[in-house]
Amino acid sequence: MKTYLLYKRSITFLILYLCISLVGCNDDNIDYIYDDSNTYYEELYRPMLHFTPQKYWMNDPNGMVYLDGEYHLYYQYNPQAAVWGNMSWGHAVSKDLIQWEHLPVAMTKDNLGEIFSGCAIVDVNNTAGFGENALIAIYTSSGERQTQSIAYSLDKGRTFEKYAGNPVLPNDGRADFRDPKVFWYEEGNYWVMTIATSQTISFYRSDNLKTWNFLSEFGEGVGAHGGVWECPDLIKMSYSGDDKWVLLVSINPGGPNGGSATQYFIGSFDGVNFVADSLPYPMWLDYGKDNYAGVTWSNEPTGRHLFIGWMSNWQYAGIVPSMTWRGAATLPRELTLKSHPSGYPVLASDVIADVSIIANQWQDFSNSSYIYDLHVERPYELNISIIADKNSKGFFTLKNEIDEKVVFELDCVDNKLIIDRSASGVSSFSNDFRMQVISPIDAITNKIDIKLYIDYSSIECVLNDGIIQQTNLVYPQKIYSILDLSYLEGAFVVEKVALRTFDSIW
Ligand code: FRU
Repeated sequence: MKTYLLYKRSITFLILYLCISLVGCNDDNIDYIYDDSNTYYEELYRPMLHFTPQKYWMNDPNGMVYLDGEYHLYYQYNPQAAVWGNMSWGHAVSKDLIQWEHLPVAMTKDNLGEIFSGCAIVDVNNTAGFGENALIAIYTSSGERQTQSIAYSLDKGRTFEKYAGNPVLPNDGRADFRDPKVFWYEEGNYWVMTIATSQTISFYRSDNLKTWNFLSEFGEGVGAHGGVWECPDLIKMSYSGDDKWVLLVSINPGGPNGGSATQYFIGSFDGVNFVADSLPYPMWLDYGKDNYAGVTWSNEPTGRHLFIGWMSNWQYAGIVPSMTWRGAATLPRELTLKSHPSGYPVLASDVIADVSIIANQWQDFSNSSYIYDLHVERPYELNISIIADKNSKGFFTLKNEIDEKVVFELDCVDNKLIIDRSASGVSSFSNDFRMQVISPIDAITNKIDIKLYIDYSSIECVLNDGIIQQTNLVYPQKIYSILDLSYLEGAFVVEKVALRTFDSIW
């Protein structure tokens, strides 16, 4: 009898367990907002200036689009754990790109697969027939094969209806076929999709977002090919009064400092083919280890090319020591084309000026000694202007009271900036994290203007208005508050040191 009861109970438990797991898998039931109390922002390492999910895992930014006063940021999200999996689109909105409001998860997996990266557009002319100004997401359904699907929202991006005719772009057998980014090609009056196809980017066109025709493929034999190409974005920009088309391509692995990074190509696009100008490829958007899978906002009202990336690297993203959440977005950047001293165009990306919204007054430290106690306890921006001659080498450090430090070495002989975060705080989780991060600085001739954006677990280092940059994560126990410039002495002239702190955004 006892055995029978035990058996019955086990069966009941099994059925209960199956029901719970089924409900758990039925993603329509995930409508997840973690915590309204805001106390999670007090967690160690939790960024203040940077977007993070309230809880669990995020990777790529997705579906960035502006509509009716709101910037939307969807993102690759696991609503069930702080590791990659169950890919869904998390969602947040902002009026100023700095202060974000968390919203419920926008899309979860269905019978076509998980919801991988993609974009969103505003269908001003109702080309798809879902309604004028419908917000339409174009994304990868990652099932047995990767195919492209669409979904539309008629309530300002809050909820989506998946199109019954999905997938709109099937896969004829490619292993990697993902991350659609779509824009309206004005010159031809049709939509163009860029999509990552292993180690090339393919272009498709459509009149209605529902049927797509192949145009061309780009990338063989040009640029970096150390890994798979992902998350493309083709952007029309201006350079010295001319139009230039810039193609962003994330690559993993194969970045300049190992692992994930974003390369770019500059050239022309005639509505069918992208042709790259002859330039010294590979060219990199950010030499730091932690700026990946970034693309630009669609429908941006001021016409700026606004970009945001995922602030991590596939080499260690799943084991970084922020336990309750993993993954953050970079600060939003404005992309422009600037000139390299040798006369060719390069893509610059600077932190958007809008960060001033939450910034306090500048404090000038220029005439202090070489070691500065910055008296900061919260995230801040530090500007250092240095005059260097070609024979100078030196370094400066940013550290805290327990000697956790980041070393910035300026090598003007070999034209390099080397950032060392091996003693920056917790770093033992990955040798790929501990290694030096190197960027060339040949685009800078004489005066080096360094802007550092220091949050609780990252440093974005922007040189000369974004012509060179490095975005790197760090995990110190306390924010760095001491600047030591003494090892620059002699070789460099430090012209200016200034700092401004940021107010809390919640
Ligand atoms: C880039 C990426 C994309 C893919 C997504 C899955 O980081 O691998 O290619 O769509 O992440 O989460």
